[in-house]
Amino acid sequence: MEAIMKVLFLLVNSTCDINCTNCFYTTGHEKRSRFRVQPEIVGRAAERIASVGFNTVILSGGDPLHSRFKYETYVLISELKARGLKVIINTSAVRLTEEDLDTIIGLGVDRVDISIDSHDADINNALRGRHHDTVSAITGLIERGYRNVVTTTVVAKLNTPTLMETISWLKGLGVEDVRIQRVFLPNDSTDDGGTIMQAMRDVEPSLRASHASRYIELTERAFNGQSASCGVVWGKNTLCAMHRERSLHVSIVRTSSSETCSKILLTQCCKRSRAMS
Ligand SMILES: C[S@@+](CC[C@H](N)C(=O)[O-])C[C@H]1O[C@@H](n2cnc3c(N)ncnc32)[C@H](O)[C@@H]1O
Ligand code: SF4
Repeated sequence: MEAIMKVLFLLVNSTCDINCTNCFYTTGHEKRSRFRVQPEIVGRAAERIASVGFNTVILSGGDPLHSRFKYETYVLISELKARGLKVIINTSAVRLTEEDLDTIIGLGVDRVDISIDSHDADINNALRGRHHDTVSAITGLIERGYRNVVTTTVVAKLNTPTLMETISWLKGLGVEDVRIQRVFLPNDSTDDGGTIMQAMRDVEPSLRASHASRYIELTERAFNGQSASCGVVWGKNTLCAMHRERSLHVSIVRTSSSETCSKILLTQCCKRSRAMS
């Protein structure tokens, strides 16, 4: 059944425990700032998010589970869940204790999307860092019986040759939904000869997400400067954040001590999309 999907992509901060090589913060295409969700406003923010009709909130950043600010995120999550919203976390998961894993499950987080770029610690650490900690978080959640762990692997030149191995290894760890995302580097002029897109097409049959092939197709179109079938020309950046989730109704809210959720920027593409599975 078709349903309007109302997904809020909420950047709770721009702070991280690591500096990933290709990240737009590290490469300087985005500036880190001091904005972050403050515990005093999360009740109001959650109320506002629910009242304007969102049904799902994706918490991203920076890192929502940053070692210093994760407690604020937990407060926000409990306020969002109290209003019946579905909550997804995008995280590096590099600074999670056993207690954090219990807290995340206890709060009823609907999906934890953990970024990991390779099964090979050296490759992952060259791209992101802290392979061991990331793997511990993934396996820790799975060992607790939590089934909603998703991983995201950003496909770049370095991990392209071993992408299939990475996908198989993640599935072997018990990750049921392994996802990929093409690296985008604004103003990047390096030519990979099409190997990144080819590797993504090669692994597509091994991916579970029903929209994987559509995502790969849209990525290719965006990188070729072509419009999506809905007629909108997506920026490479926009595409990665939105179409991957099929979150075609997306807003971005930045909150800080001086701002509240009254500042909602609504970005619309297609009018309708299938509800997220
Ligand atoms: C910006 S991060 C924010 C959430 C969290 N810090 C994390 O690393 O998962 C969201 C996703 O974007 C990915 N990403 C970062 N830089 C990217 C780039 N240049 N191209 C494509 N994806 C990128 C990350 O690997 C991660 O999967
Ligand atoms: S942890 Fe996420 S936001 Fe931080 S540098 Fe890495 S990819 Fe970027």
